[in-house]
Amino acid sequence: MKKKETLTRRNFVKTTAAAGIAASTFSIVNAESVRGTRANSMVEVGWVGCGGQGTRDAYLLEKTGKAKIVRIADYFQHRLDAAIKVDPKRQKPDLAGINPKNVHLGVDAYKAVIESNVDAVLLVTPPGFRPEHFRAAVAAKKHVFAEKPLAVDVPGCHEVLDAGEKARAQKLSVVVGLQRHYSKAYRACKQLIDEGAIGTPVMAHSAWDQGDLWKDRRGKREDWPSKMDYEVEHWYFFKWLCGDHIVEQNIHNMDVINWMLGARPVRASGFGGRLVRTDIGEIYDHFNIVYEYSNQVLLNNTCVQIDGVRGDVSETIRGTKGVFTTTAGKGGTGGARIEGVYDRKKAETPLIYHYEGDDDKHYDQEAEAFVNSVRGEGEGEDKYRNDTKYGVESTFMAILGREAAYRRQTIAWDELWNTNKRLTFKR
Ligand SMILES: NC(=O)c1ccc[n+]([C@@H]2O[C@H](COP(=O)([O-])OP(=O)(O)OC[C@H]3O[C@@H](n4cnc5c(N)ncnc54)[C@H](O)[C@@H]3O)[C@@H](O)[C@H]2O)c1
Repeated sequence: MKKKETLTRRNFVKTTAAAGIAASTFSIVNAESVRGTRANSMVEVGWVGCGGQGTRDAYLLEKTGKAKIVRIADYFQHRLDAAIKVDPKRQKPDLAGINPKNVHLGVDAYKAVIESNVDAVLLVTPPGFRPEHFRAAVAAKKHVFAEKPLAVDVPGCHEVLDAGEKARAQKLSVVVGLQRHYSKAYRACKQLIDEGAIGTPVMAHSAWDQGDLWKDRRGKREDWPSKMDYEVEHWYFFKWLCGDHIVEQNIHNMDVINWMLGARPVRASGFGGRLVRTDIGEIYDHFNIVYEYSNQVLLNNTCVQIDGVRGDVSETIRGTKGVFTTTAGKGGTGGARIEGVYDRKKAETPLIYHYEGDDDKHYDQEAEAFVNSVRGEGEGEDKYRNDTKYGVESTFMAILGREAAYRRQTIAWDELWNTNKRLTFKR
């Protein structure tokens, strides 16, 4: 934020709290007008976790022209160096002039970022650290852009939900990196489904099936100074950091099903295992889960990371009057459409809706929505974003599926929600 700004909501809250002024003794400036003072000012962002997705998010925040990355933190020095290095071939935030005092190293480096005077934080570490970072950010009254998933275990979900409510109460913006919510095509489908375009939903399918990934990150334990360093670098393959790939990746697809249905499941049953990827870590390489909703709608969800398996990244809901279905098209959203009931006498399936155009850039739109929300300039549903509730629900839904598969049992939503097992680093 430009330093000459007279009153931001954050310093307003801090100042009044410090002065011990009772709310009843003065007229409280409403959040909208406080945010209004931010117009024309640059949102200063602290970036925690300088890897692949963080680079994309940080770049897109700066691309809005209304936000600037001013502090960075990472567990590893080589990540900080890579983040700062100028590389015209890559889309990166411009960190060439960053003050070395604003570059923080180590597992606790996030504290220096969050406790500084930044307006907002971008949290893009492995998700095992997310609840701790998210809670600290809200406690420090920062706006939060947090990548998905929001946690890897049940206590983490509770913590983020609680912090998200505190953020809401303070009118802090929270955007969660479930970017399909920022797609024009998905949003149009959601509106049409709410208006009855597919009739009564009957059954659903979601999938993130692909080949093996991170083949270039398969180092050996002995090449790293400590077990912790090794696992953090190879976080994808360790449950306490990743949550397993059903949580880390497949969350996107089940999140869409919940969003479109306007509901969450009541129980899950499923299976999975380590069929092929046995050379590293402990996560599974395939899951197949059935989720049941209270209206008897069943969701069949699969996620596979095994070479040779036919790819499928999609969400489908079949109803009595039509089908909502998606395929990962351009920018991940190009395939979202609604089809009418197939008539066997006609060659083609009637198309009720599909997005025309090539400008549905959900990542860009998500970054723009976050910055606008922080500045009090959002429009419509993006006015003041707080994605915590659905972000936690989708995270928890994926954890529910994972646990059903690990235990080979049917588990009710409420039963798991009321447990407290943490996934932690084992020395
Ligand atoms: N929304 C999307 O489409 C999308 C896509 C990819 C990844 N993601 C999410 O983004 C997050 C990061 O994924 P990635 O692919 O960028 O991984 P990555 O390994 O490329 O980056 C993670 C970074 O965090 C750093 N880090 C680890 N622990 C840390 C700590 N305690 N403090 C500070 N830094 C720490 C690592 O050193 C690394 O630089 C994950 O939650 C992932 O699920 C989202």
